Amino acid sequence: METIKIALAKGRLADLSLELLEQIGISFSSYYEKTRKLTFISDDGNYELILVKAMDVGTYVENGAADIGVAGKDTLLEAGADVFEVIDLGFGRCEFAVAGEPGTELSAHQPLTIGTKYPKITNDYFQAQGRQVETIKLNGSVELAPLVGLSDVIVDIVETGSTLKENNLEVIETMLSISARLVVNKASFKTKGTAIRPVIDQVKSIVDEKGRVTNGN
Ligand code: PRP
Repeated sequence: METIKIALAKGRLADLSLELLEQIGISFSSYYEKTRKLTFISDDGNYELILVKAMDVGTYVENGAADIGVAGKDTLLEAGADVFEVIDLGFGRCEFAVAGEPGTELSAHQPLTIGTKYPKITNDYFQAQGRQVETIKLNGSVELAPLVGLSDVIVDIVETGSTLKENNLEVIETMLSISARLVVNKASFKTKGTAIRPVIDQVKSIVDEKGRVTNGN
């Protein structure tokens, strides 16, 4: 069997994805040895794991450097990756929101300035509503921007809400819900279909089963 390359985002998403793969019999024991390595071969030798930055998963999969990947819907939208999005994995759930200092009136700022790691999602969202905004691209610690006067508000992902709270900010407007997605390279889906389809089917049945248990059905 030809090796199937799987791109995962370093960190929590990779850990959750590996748990899922383990459940369908794909194990990467060497991943758990504390190393700085970025590629790992599965115990059965059939799969190769590559660890990339979250924002790059879509790029690796789109270009065929990986056949399959797991990425947050946020990073897929921002990167505009041209891939097959085959399963909503149900984990990595969070909300996109506009946040700012308590009482901030968005309409009071013309144009509204927005600090964000996600300028494309931000522009698309506001443009679709005919609202004029100016985005300022940041690479992290976004919550600082309104506190030091760099922007009026921020657009970011909110999971527990504690980062906003600890920086005295609050959600002003919720935008969209996101979660982790299993994505597949469009050509691999055809050329390596025999190897890839069973992976998709097995992951899907586990996710569906989890959904049923969670929903009590
Ligand atoms: C994200 C996001 C917020 C935080 C939200 O950052 O940018 O800062 O998580 O989570 P919370 O609502 O549970 O506090 P991340 O941890 O991905 O770090 P980064 O800023 O380095 O991207």
